[in-house]
Amino acid sequence: MKITELFNVSGKIAIVTGGSRGIGEMIAAGFLANGVKVYITARKEAALIEKAKELSDLYGADCIPVPCDLSTMHGMEEFVTFMESKEEHIDFLINNAGASWGEPYAEYSEKGWDKVMDLNVKSIFYLTQKLTPMLSLKASAEDPSRVINIGSVDGLNVPVIEAYAYGTSKAAVHHLTRIMAKRLVGENILVNAIAPGPYESMMLGAAVNHDYSQIESRNPRKRIGSPEDMAGLVIFLCSRAGAYTVGAVIPSDGGLVGTAGHDLSQS
Ligand SMILES: NC(=O)c1ccc[n+]([C@@H]2O[C@H](COP(=O)([O-])OP(=O)(O)OC[C@H]3O[C@@H](n4cnc5c(N)ncnc54)[C@H](OP(=O)(O)O)[C@@H]3O)[C@@H](O)[C@H]2O)c1
Repeated sequence: MKITELFNVSGKIAIVTGGSRGIGEMIAAGFLANGVKVYITARKEAALIEKAKELSDLYGADCIPVPCDLSTMHGMEEFVTFMESKEEHIDFLINNAGASWGEPYAEYSEKGWDKVMDLNVKSIFYLTQKLTPMLSLKASAEDPSRVINIGSVDGLNVPVIEAYAYGTSKAAVHHLTRIMAKRLVGENILVNAIAPGPYESMMLGAAVNHDYSQIESRNPRKRIGSPEDMAGLVIFLCSRAGAYTVGAVIPSDGGLVGTAGHDLSQS
């Protein structure tokens, strides 16, 4: 019952897709600070290698960069082949890499739909499918492996910005999480999703000109999410403490979803 045992993740091996910045970096940092060996992926090679070195130096831990494009079958296959050459097994797969596409309704393009659905939904399924043998190798009833899919509050609430494919893709991530959880729980692989609210990142920053003040004032907690909020939740899900949580979609959003109400007098 000691916290040091309940939340212990040391000695484990993790993959964090999209780990070069934003939420993926927060998750990688939380793992590295707590004794997990972490493989991070992204397309932009130089930035990824630099980030892996920065995180390795900061935490005195093993952060390995693997440049790849996970939106294509070829990119996923290359990545999985690389992982198989490096490790016999993995313990945690964090499907975090994601993209958005904003365009007015009348012009919303097929390119946007394909980009968003390929990376946010299809690649989560195929990457998890291709890594299932590595995830199940050491998984046991006492010490299951974990998959965490990063969804979004935009898959739970109706988003305010015109990013039609994005909110739809994130609702799909949440439901895919439940479907895969049912399939994989028998192999001692526990699948859950986190639905983040606003966190500082290139994706959100681009939408608000890197000024988070409006978002903060509208949030019930009056702030955006911090690395500790995200890393702590991921560590909970991956540790002994989270071993009875399966197929859940957990918001990490300062209460945006949980406290949402509707004022009938205003409608
Ligand atoms: N920030 C938020 O407020 C927020 C809220 C809700 C949900 N989310 C979700 O959280 C996740 C992370 O988002 P973020 O805000 O941290 O975004 P971000 O700053 O744009 O980071 C995205 C990461 O994914 C990588 N990536 C993008 N396309 C890729 C591809 N095709 N193959 C491999 N890697 C790729 C990026 O690196 P490269 O560009 O070099 O490939 C980067 O490392 C996403 O799933 C997003 O939908 C974020």
